[in-house]
Amino acid sequence: MTNTMWGGRFAASPSQIMEEINASIDFDKRLWRHDIEASKAHVAMLAATGIVSAKEAGEIAKGLDQILGEMEAGQFKFTRALEDIHLNVESRLHELIGPVAGKLHTARSRNDQVATDFKLYVRDEIAAIDSGLAALQLALAQKALDHAATVMPGFTHLQTAQPITFGHHCLAYVEMLARDRGRFADAAKRLAECPLGSAALAGTSFPIDRIMTAKALGFARPTANSLDAVSDRDFALETLAAASIAAMHLSRFAEEIVLWTSPQFGFARLSDAYSTGSSIMPQKRNPDAAELVRAKTGRIAGAFQALLMVMKGLPLAYAKDMQEDKEPVFDALDALKLGLAAMTGMVGDLEIDAKAMKRAASRAHATATDLADWLVKTLGLPFRDAHHITGRIVALADSKGADLKKLTLPEIKSVEPRVTEDVYAALDPGRSVKSRKSQGGTAPGNVRREAKRWIKRLEKAPLSR
Ligand code: ARG
Repeated sequence: MTNTMWGGRFAASPSQIMEEINASIDFDKRLWRHDIEASKAHVAMLAATGIVSAKEAGEIAKGLDQILGEMEAGQFKFTRALEDIHLNVESRLHELIGPVAGKLHTARSRNDQVATDFKLYVRDEIAAIDSGLAALQLALAQKALDHAATVMPGFTHLQTAQPITFGHHCLAYVEMLARDRGRFADAAKRLAECPLGSAALAGTSFPIDRIMTAKALGFARPTANSLDAVSDRDFALETLAAASIAAMHLSRFAEEIVLWTSPQFGFARLSDAYSTGSSIMPQKRNPDAAELVRAKTGRIAGAFQALLMVMKGLPLAYAKDMQEDKEPVFDALDALKLGLAAMTGMVGDLEIDAKAMKRAASRAHATATDLADWLVKTLGLPFRDAHHITGRIVALADSKGADLKKLTLPEIKSVEPRVTEDVYAALDPGRSVKSRKSQGGTAPGNVRREAKRWIKRLEKAPLSR
């Protein structure tokens, strides 16, 4: 049997392999809700413009509603022979209401139809991801407020650098996620043009009203160029690019959770709810969720790359290559949503060992920069000289196997005789973080203020759109 929807000029049916490579229904059935929504907007417009009669449009809309009900109930039978979601719906409509079903496809093509459906889908996903990002921001901001004064070592090159507060570290991620939300919001803004009515590629000779359908579907306006409209997948690419960057951010925090919960660091502990055991080593508590969040970055960034390669070099307008746009988007956005939920759960769950953090911040000469700053402020030395002298004091501490602050005053004076007793205040990690009050610095006061500002903002307007 030839395809009932387009088989007019075909004598024989497609080969098994042809059907297998051609059919997208196994994955694009996910677009069912949006496909019906777009068809309903289209048929209402066809009636309003007199292209079909009100009676015909009523029958079509009723049939579409029935199909929607069947799908919601999980009773709809998807058929591979009908290729994709669009033809599955149209064919069922024909079964339900007869030949008038054929009028639905007046003045449109699957090319503008799929572009519209997919945009609607991506738009919903962006909204869901935005609330996932906001939820994670809120969890982090709350953690930051709880730990505004919790001292930990800050690292550069993963080497102890200077004492920071754990709250400040959490707020660093809140900022990253804010930029992620900005990127998604930006993608949503550019996505807001409706392709419906571009038809196959050239527009249509029917007197359609594209503003009406654009409005009905919640778009800002119709697309301006029919060729561009059916061949554009920038909205999916931009969303995947934003998703890749967001996933990269999550992977960095995930990696830190892996490090902090290791016995070597011992900075934090995940509850049983977010840990797994080993089948052989009874003592193990593995941070699998964090590892998987870290790993999912690969498939998300891979999806971006995959779609970019699908689109590269495609001549205008639509080509079937573009059917390969959906799976990477579905997979990547699912992975991101799950990663966000897991991360939000872990952040709330994370028990901080403030003593262990403080201990680590008291080792490895974490306050060496504070000593150099003291020499600058108290003795008026140029920073470069202060840095050099501090280096020699650090070397002395190393030779005694002690931290900087454990040196006696005479020992310090053996390097720089002008140093006085009050230097020890500068060497205390708690005092160190308190002193870093510069705008954007790690001081507990700063962290408390920023965390509160974020919490207020997030509780008031959780969605950026
Ligand atoms: N299933 C197709 C896709 O996802 C729909 C568009 C088909 N258009 C066509 N001219 N064959 O791209």
